[in-house]
Amino acid sequence: MNKVTVLGSINMDMVMETDRLPKVGETLLGDSINYYVGGKGANQAVAAARIGVDVALIGKIGDDTFGSKVYKHLEKEKVDVSAVTSEKNIFTGVASIFKLQEDNAIVVLPGANMLLGDINEELNEKIKAEDVLLTQLEIPIETVKKGLALAKDKGAITILNPAPYNESVIDMLPFVDIITPNETEFEGLLGHSITDTMQFEKEMLDWSKTNDTQLIVTRGGDGISYTAENNVITIPAEKVTVVDTTGAGDTFNGILAACLAKGMTVSESVEISGKGATLSVTKLGAQTGMPTLTEIAAF
Ligand code: RIB
Repeated sequence: MNKVTVLGSINMDMVMETDRLPKVGETLLGDSINYYVGGKGANQAVAAARIGVDVALIGKIGDDTFGSKVYKHLEKEKVDVSAVTSEKNIFTGVASIFKLQEDNAIVVLPGANMLLGDINEELNEKIKAEDVLLTQLEIPIETVKKGLALAKDKGAITILNPAPYNESVIDMLPFVDIITPNETEFEGLLGHSITDTMQFEKEMLDWSKTNDTQLIVTRGGDGISYTAENNVITIPAEKVTVVDTTGAGDTFNGILAACLAKGMTVSESVEISGKGATLSVTKLGAQTGMPTLTEIAAF
């Protein structure tokens, strides 16, 4: 079976629920704290694994308690962690997530993620021509570039989720088959802001005319838009009770990669991944609400 290889970050998410963010100099009493495995790489790997494809994760953790916790969790989620290595004297990535009523605010301390450098051997072993490589930008930029170039060279499908946005994405485009920014990251890609829906669609078309990379923009509650034969197709998001939006983009990307590895078309894959991302926001924690294919079908 075709496989998904995720090259990316692994964190422990500390989710603190609070009514509002503190002002500078202010101490605030929050409501609760929960610990969940997170990091865009780990989240996307778990989302793909729940769809029932073989998934390998290439990443780095520290030799601390969080490191062993996340490693065991990923094994339990049936992610191949043989290329997740541990580094001494550094902490496993941590994300402080302030969960507010409507949305969230996140501070990431990358720790060991930023030591993910020499990955040639792992990449060579894990990525085959018929596979999908999925990566993001919470690890060193050079490592992302290396991964994309090698996977492309082997003939694999390459997906870049340009989050958090970094302008060196532009140099990576020749090695990227599919790019999946959210609206803010798409503005980063364009180098200017967008004011309304009409302009948004025009910018998507213009961008797609001048780039060979397939563009898919995730738009939160407004759904997913992608370009196909000089058109912008938007799949609206279904209405659900939103509990936590953390990891919705990761769920989308992981399921997208899994569907493509299963041989589905881009439009079929986008439709299924969009539904998966919608379902994921109904539970607290980035990975808690990530659905299986059966759950998506029932939805
Ligand atoms: O995309 C959500 C993820 O971003 C969280 O799990 C957190 O770890 C940060 O990396």
